[in-house]
Amino acid sequence: MFSSCDNKTFHSEGLELDLKSKVFGQHLATAVVLNAVTVFMRDQHPQKPLVLSFHGGGGTGKNHVAKIIAQNIFNDGESSKQVHWFIGDYHFTKEENLETHKAQLRRWIRGNVTKCPCSMFIFDEMDKMNPELIDSLRPILDHYGNIDGVTYRYALFLFLSNAGTRTINRVAYDLWSAGTIREDIQLSSGNLETELSKDVFNNNGLILCVSVGGFWHSRLINKNVVDFFIPFLPLEYRHVRLCVLAHMAAMGLPWSEDLADHVAREMQYFPREDRVFSVTGCKRVRARLDILSSHDELPLQGSGPPSHNAVR
Ligand SMILES: *[C@@H]1O[C@H](CO)[C@@H](O)[C@H](O)[C@H]1NC(C)=O
Repeated sequence: MFSSCDNKTFHSEGLELDLKSKVFGQHLATAVVLNAVTVFMRDQHPQKPLVLSFHGGGGTGKNHVAKIIAQNIFNDGESSKQVHWFIGDYHFTKEENLETHKAQLRRWIRGNVTKCPCSMFIFDEMDKMNPELIDSLRPILDHYGNIDGVTYRYALFLFLSNAGTRTINRVAYDLWSAGTIREDIQLSSGNLETELSKDVFNNNGLILCVSVGGFWHSRLINKNVVDFFIPFLPLEYRHVRLCVLAHMAAMGLPWSEDLADHVAREMQYFPREDRVFSVTGCKRVRARLDILSSHDELPLQGSGPPSHNAVR
């Protein structure tokens, strides 16, 4: 019946391999994603759509992981016609059209899911969306068998936002200061999950400030329609470096550890005293490489070891 849909056979091995080899410094997020997506995709009769909420700073890999999920579910990957990207500060922002936007969004989701039940809806910069608009999605995301004859339970919804970043970064820094090995960090470490959900549930406007927008006031959270809140940790120098190497390979540039060091070292790190975490993660890497290679400025040799502060 849905033979025209772009659904490839889901192999969790492919997803696992991609998450392990293409995402840097996110052992926690990738483990939760792999488990959640695999269980959901293997379930012939899911109770509700899969709803994942990704949290973390820019360049930590939220979009990247969303694309990797799409690539392992659809033949056309993130450009499949079953993958729908909505960007918070671009789509649906005008207050005065709120009712129209609500109706339109629900109509789109309904139309697409009717055509192909396994569709993926990605809401990027979720924290910039009007909370009422998000609220209006609640029935779709919840445990309803069907709504007016349409079932949404085979669909995937991903919410990407910066909300909670401060908490994630603070916990990551505290753990780093205490000498915890990053790869040993669990959702329970430093109460990461609890702290993150405290942000989510008790946002008093102080901790998260403006970046939260209205997202956390939205009842979407309270109703437990989000299956997993997934923290993306701030990246360290060594992860940025791996990112540079991956981009270099993708661009067909010759392998150069020196260049990787050079580019990773140019990035900014915080906090100022320790310079542990990258401000922009993997975000500026490609642009930087483009500039360097277009100017023939590739410092392929002898840029020396990275400053001691940046490594650990
Ligand atoms: C599917 O969603 C897109 C937005 O991503 C929208 O333009 C399109 O009209 C929708 N299709 C249906 C059948 O509703």
